This record gives sequence, C-alpha cells and structure tokens, in this order.
Amino acid sequence: MAPPVSCLLVAVLFSASCKATASSDQTCTEKEANKIYNCENLGLREIPDTLPNTTEFLEFSFNFLPAIQNTTFCRLTNLIFLDLTRCQINWIHEDTFQSHHQLDTLVLTGNPLIFMAETSLLGPRALKHLFLIQTGISNLEFIPVHNLENLESLYLGSNHISSMKFPGNFPTQNLKVLDFQNNALHFLSREDLNTLGATNLSLNLDSNDIRGMEPGAFQAKVFQSLRFGGTLDVSVILKGLQNSTTRSLWLGTYEDTESQDLTPAMLEGLCEMSVESMSLRQYRFSDLSATTFRCLTPLRELDLTATHLRELPSGIQGMNSLRKLVLNVNHFEQLCQINAASFPALTDLSIKGNLGVLDLGAGCLEKLANLRRLDLSHNGIKASDCCNLPLKGLRHLQYLNLSYAVSMGLRRQAFQESPELEVLDLAFTHLTVMASQSPFQNLPLLQVLNLSHCLLDASNQHLLEGLGGLRQLNLQGNRFQDGSLSKTNLLQTVAGLEVLILSSCELLSIDQQAFHSLGNATHLDLSHNSLTENSIDALGHLKGLYLNLATNSIRFIPPRLLPILSQQSTINLSHNPLDCTCSNVRFITWFRENLHKLEDVEETVCENPPSLRGVKLSEVELSCGITAVGIFFLVVFLFLFTILFIFAVKFLLRWKYQHI
Ligand SMILES: *[C@@H]1O[C@H](CO)[C@@H](O)[C@H](O)[C@H]1NC(C)=O
Ligand SMILES: *[C@@H]1O[C@H](CO)[C@@H](O)[C@H](O)[C@H]1NC(C)=O
Ligand SMILES: *[C@@H]1O[C@H](CO)[C@@H](O)[C@H](O)[C@H]1NC(C)=O
Ligand SMILES: *[C@@H]1O[C@H](CO)[C@@H](O)[C@H](O)[C@H]1NC(C)=O
Ligand SMILES: *[C@@H]1O[C@H](CO)[C@@H](O)[C@H](O)[C@H]1NC(C)=O
Ligand SMILES: *[C@@H]1O[C@H](CO)[C@@H](O)[C@H](O)[C@H]1NC(C)=O
Ligand SMILES: *[C@@H]1O[C@H](CO)[C@@H](O)[C@H](O)[C@H]1NC(C)=O
Ligand SMILES: *[C@@H]1O[C@H](CO)[C@@H](O)[C@H](O)[C@H]1NC(C)=O
Repeated sequence: MAPPVSCLLVAVLFSASCKATASSDQTCTEKEANKIYNCENLGLREIPDTLPNTTEFLEFSFNFLPAIQNTTFCRLTNLIFLDLTRCQINWIHEDTFQSHHQLDTLVLTGNPLIFMAETSLLGPRALKHLFLIQTGISNLEFIPVHNLENLESLYLGSNHISSMKFPGNFPTQNLKVLDFQNNALHFLSREDLNTLGATNLSLNLDSNDIRGMEPGAFQAKVFQSLRFGGTLDVSVILKGLQNSTTRSLWLGTYEDTESQDLTPAMLEGLCEMSVESMSLRQYRFSDLSATTFRCLTPLRELDLTATHLRELPSGIQGMNSLRKLVLNVNHFEQLCQINAASFPALTDLSIKGNLGVLDLGAGCLEKLANLRRLDLSHNGIKASDCCNLPLKGLRHLQYLNLSYAVSMGLRRQAFQESPELEVLDLAFTHLTVMASQSPFQNLPLLQVLNLSHCLLDASNQHLLEGLGGLRQLNLQGNRFQDGSLSKTNLLQTVAGLEVLILSSCELLSIDQQAFHSLGNATHLDLSHNSLTENSIDALGHLKGLYLNLATNSIRFIPPRLLPILSQQSTINLSHNPLDCTCSNVRFITWFRENLHKLEDVEETVCENPPSLRGVKLSEVELSCGITAVGIFFLVVFLFLFTILFIFAVKFLLRWKYQHI
C-alpha cells in the first residue's frame, strides 16, 4: 500500500471514536431483554445505539459493514455470539475485538474478505467457533492465528483452499470440528495431515473432487468422523486411509456427482483401516455379491440408503458385528430379499421409503432374534392380516414403525410375536380392526401408540384393551360415533395415559365423565374439533394440564368453569368464536389475569359483537357495571321521582277532601 494512502486510512481510523452515531429508523428485535437481539437485514451501516451495552447474542447478518475496526463493536463488550453473515465485509482491522473477552462464536460467512489484520481476533480469549464459509479464502495463512488456542470448530466450506496444510503455529490441538467442504483440495499428503494436532476430530472433506491421496496419508490418526462425499473413485480415498481409525466414515455421493460404481475391489482398502460406522449413500454397486461385503465385516453400522438395491446377495459371511443396517429408499419387492439371516446381530433395521410396494412376506426377519428397532414406514404396505407372520421371531422388538402404509387388517392379538413392544406407530395407515376386539392385547409394555389418521372407529370400547402401560396415545383424525366421546369409552382401559391427542376428531361433545379414569394426564390436545364450553366440565378432576382447546366452537365460558381452567398449567384457546360482550365479562377478566398461562394470546380474538371482531381478547375494554355518570343520573332521577310522587299524593288527598 502506498504511504499516502495508508496515512489517509490511518487518519480515517483515528477520527472514528467509540460513541454511537445517529441511529437508523429501523429497529432491531429484542428476543430476550438486554441480552438477545436480532438486527438482520435492516440495511444498517453501524451498530444502532438502541442496543444496550449488555447485549450478548447479536444477529447482525445482511447489513452493510464494508470495514470493521476497534470502534465498530466497542460498546458491546459482553458479546458471546456475533453473526455477521453477508455484511459485505472486506476489511477486518487491527484489534477489532480487543475488548470482547467473552466472544465464543463469530460468524463471518458470506463476506468477501480481502484483509484480516494479524491482531483482529486478539481479545476473545475463548473463541470456540469460527465460521469463515464463503469468504473467498484460498490459503490457510490468511487466518490470523493469535488467540485461537481454544478453537473447537472451524468452518471453511465453499472457499478456494487447495492445501490443507496448516501453518506451523496454527493451534489445531483442541479442534473438534474442521469443515473443508466444497473447496479445491485435489490431493492430500501425509505432510498435510501431520500439521493436524487434534485427535478425535470430525473432518469434513465433502465435494472436494479429491483425485489423489498419498497412501497412508491418514495413518495412525484417530477421527470421530470423516466425510468424503462425492468423490470420483472411492478406492483412492481408502488407500489414503490405510492404518487410520475412525468411528464414522461417510463416503456417499450425490445425484449431480459422477462417481464410479462400486466394485468389490474398490472396497478392499477397508480391510486396512478401522471403521465402526459407514455410509455409501446413493452409490451404485456393480458385481454386487457376497465378496462386496468381505472388508465390511468389522462394521457396527452400515448405511446403504438409495443404493439402487433390489436384493442383498445371499451367502454374505462374517457380518457378526453389524448392529444397525439402513436400507432406506431402495427397490425391494419383498422383505425376504434383504437376506436378513446374514446379519444375525442386528438390533436396528430401517427399510423406509422403499420405491415400490413392499411385501412383508412371512418370517423374513425370523433370524434377527436381537432386533430392538424396526422402521418400515412409507413403504406402501398392504397387508390384509398383519402382523404376526412378518414379525415372527422378533421376541425382543421394542420399536416398530409401520406408519404411512396403505392398508392393514388387524385381528385379535396382532402383535403377539413381539410382546416387548414399547413404541408402535401406525399413523396414516388405513386400519381395519375386527369389531369388538383389541388387536393390542398382550402388549403390557407399550408406552407410545400412534393411531393418528387411521380411519378407525374410535367408538370401539375394546380397541385399547391390553395396553395397561400406555402413556402416550395419538388418535388425531379418527372419528367417534355421533361426534361424541361418551361416558363409557376406549380410554377406560388405559388409565395411566399422560399424553392424549384427540385433535381433528370431529368431536361435538364430551361427556362429563368421559375422562374420569385418567388421573395422570399432563397433556391433552382437543384442538380442531367443534367443542363448546360444555365439554370443559369433563376436566374438573384434572390439574396441571397442558390443555389445547384451539380451533373449537367455544363462545362463552361461564364463571362456574373458570376454576377448572385456573387449575391447569397452560391453555390454548386461540381460534375460537369468543364472545366479548358483558355476558362473558367474568371470563374476559379471568383471561387478562391469567395471561401467563395462556398460549397464542395473539390469535385469541373476539368474534362477537361485530364491532369487536378480530380484537385481541387481552386488549378488550368492557364497561359493564354502572358508571359514575350513570349513578348521578339515577340519583337525580330518583330525587325528581320522589318529589313528583309527594306532589301527586298531596294533590290527590286535597282533591279527595274537596269532594267529600
Ligand atoms: C482504536 O484504535 C486506535 C488506534 O490504534 C486507538 O487510538 C483508539 O483508542 C482505539 N479505540 C478504542 C475504542 O479502543
Ligand atoms: C455503554 O458503553 C459506552 C462506551 O463504552 C459508554 O460510553 C456508555 O456510558 C455505556 N452505557 C451504559 C448505559 O453503560
Ligand atoms: C470424541 O468426540 C465425540 C463427539 O465429538 C465425543 O462424544 C467423544 O466422547 C469423544 N471421544 C473421546 C475419546 O474423546
Ligand atoms: C500400515 O501398518 C502396517 C503395520 O504397522 C505397516 O506394515 C504398513 O506399511 C502400514 N501401511 C502404510 C500405508 O503406512
Ligand atoms: C415413524 O416414521 C415416520 C416417518 O418416517 C416418522 O415421521 C415418525 O416420527 C416415526 N415414529 C416414531 C415414533 O419415531
Ligand atoms: C406418532 O406419535 C409419536 C409420539 O407422539 C411421534 O413421535 C411420531 O412422530 C408420530 N408419528 C408420525 C408419523 O407423525
Ligand atoms: C399414575 O402415576 C403414578 C406415579 O407415577 C403411578 O404410581 C400410577 O400407577 C399411575 N397411575 C396409573 C393408573 O397408571
Ligand atoms: C395453539 O393451538 C393451535 C392449534 O393446534 C396451534 O396451531 C398453535 O401452534 C398453538 N399455540 C402454541 C403456542 O403452541
């Protein structure tokens, strides 16, 4: 820089001082008084003086700060989190954060940085998270190293970095997350990796188009996770990872990336390294056979989502360590095509979003005696007699997700094969239940049951028999006969319920005794029905509820019902046609005194009288008693009336005597 220019610059810098200048018209939003503020996208050119000195969290993205310096933030010395995303920052001058000792997170994403002074980050002694995504950095030397000893995460995605060799004095030892995704790292050498002091690092190298790696470049290093998404040739990566250890290895690819199909030979490198969990998401296999799995045998978790599988080969040997297998978004036609017997130690199996209808078959998972979790959601399943044949042998199953199937017929004891079930999700599956029988008998451990949108007849009193341990029940979107929840109903057999969802059940009324068996309820959702105030009587014995009565037909709440509401902890009354006339004044007064209990107060508005339609209940002013002016006129009126009366009597008496 030429001397006169720098003199000018220095002069400009020195003339700035630490007092706030004229504030802008637009105001920042307060998220928490004196602490959390949001000033996003307000076209600000400085920190407004309306922000208190005590501000700790500041979102300041999408403003205009081409140069920042020691005066820019000098008032806000308590800052812990500062987000300066896309503020068109080019220059970060000396000592910009000199007094910000508590600054923990600094986000500079999306700023075209030209210069960062050597001392710009001096001050924050505990800077832990630094975001330099999309800042145009091409060289790690650009980042000032002072004071970064405590750095835990460094995000450098979407830049032009071509070498991950850190300068010798760069403190990498405490790093936990290092993100280089979408840079220009085409070759990695052993020397590059040796500049990384951290162990147990999560290193992201996605979308770098890595073409070469020195064999053993990562050797003897230990990682928490490694990501090499979207590489052309997986075998190049695996050679570089020889003799390394990582808990999780993500090798998936993307639709818009050209990656070579995986052959058994390309995966040989896995035999020379130690991995616990691996993903090959979206790859295609060529020559898929039992040998493809030869070097995968030590894995504990394997993710083969969207790998275009129609079946898994038979004869896979030695996968005795695999606990979790993910086969989502593939092309299986029948469950037996996964050859489950090859994975005898599985505890967790997920086959969801299959492309095409999945037939559950009979006993396909029989060998998986240790299976705890099974996710079969979004598979277009049609099963006229579910589920004992498909679940055969799964004695220890605890979690079963069959949501978003097409249709299912359930007979008596339909889940007898898996008596240890704790969570059962059948949401959005059209269920046909044989009348007056419970398909759920013998599930004493079941805690969570989701029957939402199952087109069930919820008037079947026996439906939930055998679910003594049930805590959460979702019946959203099912129908009760005549729209009424009667005195004897299906809830009587599930007395331990804590969470009950009866929203969108087209309910018109609830019997006063309908909930009498539920003593432990904490969360009751009755929203989106057509209930009136009369149904509130049914809650008289319940206390401390989260109660959602939103979107119903409640108009008046008589004083007699107010104690029932008072004893609950949170109430949502939004979107009801509430009456704001004097006949409801006790309720309106109660409402204003209990605002702390009420949810969505903004959406709780008057419907009647027309003049008050849309006015928030919390802001309605009603004058219903007799006012002072009224009393005055009343007194005057009574006075005049009395005088008139006396005169009339006098006149009458006189008239009477005159005519005797
Ligand atoms: C900012 O830096 C200039 C030059 O180093 C210095 O004179 C000035 O006192 C600093 N301002 C504050 C508020 O620290
Ligand atoms: C806020 O900080 C500025 C600069 O440090 C100081 O002049 C001002 O007195 C402070 N205001 C309060 C209310 O502490
Ligand atoms: C490694 O890192 C993970 C998450 O970052 C953490 O849960 C784990 O405890 C760490 N392990 C060791 C040995 O430090
Ligand atoms: C991996 O370790 C083995 C045994 O320690 C050693 O023989 C081999 O050369 C190492 N491989 C690489 C690529 O460093
Ligand atoms: C079941 O799967 C669906 C869809 O994948 C998911 O939304 C739902 O949360 C799962 N249910 C449970 C209980 O985890
Ligand atoms: C069913 O309900 C459970 C528990 O409330 C919930 O975790 C799950 O996500 C729900 N399933 C669907 C498909 O929404
Ligand atoms: C209600 O909760 C208590 C305490 O957790 C428990 O002892 C009792 O068995 C529960 N009631 C029912 C009917 O499950
Ligand atoms: C109140 O209930 C309505 C309807 O269920 C819901 O949309 C809204 O989010 C609820 N309010 C809060 C604050 O949860």
